[in-house]
Amino acid sequence: MYLGIDLGTSEVKVLLLADNGQAVGHARAPLTVSRPAPRWAEQDPLDWWRGTLEALAVLRKAHPLEYGAVRAIGLSGQMHGPVLLGRDDRVLRSTVLWNDMRSAVECEVLAERLGASSLAAGSVPMPGFSAPILMWIAAHEPAVFEQIDCVLLPKDYLRLQLTGERATDPSDAAGTLWLDVARRTWSDSLLEASGMKRSQVPGLLDGNAPAGYLQPAIAAELGLTPGIVVATGGGDNAASAAGIGATQRGDAFLSLGTSGVLSIIDDRFEPDTSTATHAFCHAIPARWLQVSVLLSAASCLRWVCKLTSTVEATLLQEVAALDRQALAAAPVFLPYLSGERTPHNDAYAEGVFFGLTHQTDRAHLAYAVLEGVAFGAADGLRALREGGVDVPSSVSLIGGGARSAFWAQLVTDVLRLPVSVHLGGEAAAALGAARLGWLATGAPAASVLVKPRVLAACEPDPTHFARLDERLQRYRDLYRHVRPLFSADRPRLV
Ligand code: XUL
Repeated sequence: MYLGIDLGTSEVKVLLLADNGQAVGHARAPLTVSRPAPRWAEQDPLDWWRGTLEALAVLRKAHPLEYGAVRAIGLSGQMHGPVLLGRDDRVLRSTVLWNDMRSAVECEVLAERLGASSLAAGSVPMPGFSAPILMWIAAHEPAVFEQIDCVLLPKDYLRLQLTGERATDPSDAAGTLWLDVARRTWSDSLLEASGMKRSQVPGLLDGNAPAGYLQPAIAAELGLTPGIVVATGGGDNAASAAGIGATQRGDAFLSLGTSGVLSIIDDRFEPDTSTATHAFCHAIPARWLQVSVLLSAASCLRWVCKLTSTVEATLLQEVAALDRQALAAAPVFLPYLSGERTPHNDAYAEGVFFGLTHQTDRAHLAYAVLEGVAFGAADGLRALREGGVDVPSSVSLIGGGARSAFWAQLVTDVLRLPVSVHLGGEAAAALGAARLGWLATGAPAASVLVKPRVLAACEPDPTHFARLDERLQRYRDLYRHVRPLFSADRPRLV
């Protein structure tokens, strides 16, 4: 058995994977995001660890035999948010997350400093990346900044708890803006540009490499075998790529989790900093991910459910029952609930419903939300294409959003690409984490990183194209018109 731990933003997911490649069980524990000021988002790393312990306890209870047979652990995690450690590995402050927009000003300063060097980092500076967050900490909390002995990424903090070792991997390190993404090594000049030193970042190991061994005291607490190997693991999108078997140039997948990320695999580092896309390392050697990111995706669906006091299944059923006339008359939604990266790189963008009338009901709102996220993915695909990435021949849908057949077909029609949903795709990152653990035991990648069985294959339906084209145009026009109204000084709710 192999254990995958995926540290998401809304929950920690843990998964048991058998030697025959089948997932035999999973469990989860919810996480909350604290928002101490408008556009800020933070989590306490100690809560990540508590959530991990909670999820593992549930998994152990449900599958005691399989759990006891775990021989390796792998990790996946939300990217970018820096875990700030003092000399004694004490956490110095809450982690500022990947969807926190406070460092917009620092991004401007850093972009100016980096100039063409952004190419080496794989992305232009955007709020939520580690480098501008560290610059914000230096400017606003100098006493904290001075104590920083080491910066880890979220999943690395869990590994520190498990093994006592500090380390990270290139897929996650690519989200810091301190990595030379082509060479997969830290860059002194990139580190210096944001006031950091090489001694403050951990050693780099491949995602499928053994990064340490389970400490006896922790093993006793968790009910696992002491000394089992813990793989370095990867950032969530790279780990998901391992989970969905996306390892070859042109393999593509759209993750609809808290964020909406379209990743296309590349066999070389081909950054493009003229569009707001990223080039990240894969969790396996010699592969990269070309990525577009929508900061709010399934989180928009959760939001509209909360707003309308409806559970997701009910709302999705109501949406599926809407006729064509209702779909054409629904409002248009800009899903920028926490700013936006691709294509606008706009930290001040906000969510917008446009076209409300007395006839608008909650199903129309929910449809607009699902559609707005799909349009965001289409904008992401367009940005990647403009940056020189070949349009993939098909896309796998993963993450929580993959549970909705309606959303899958809508994404298919909007992207105009065949979309497939795979067995276990909604937990692809946890599956990928377990697979990376398996690889760390020496298993060959060719037999582990296979594509899971296709459960549903959606083909674009041309009868929807005209309506969706017209609405996508309205969506793009809407952002252009409201953009001047978004500003740093607008009062916002906390
Ligand atoms: C990728 C990104 C998100 C986070 C959270 O750049 O910011 O995918 O990793 O899921």
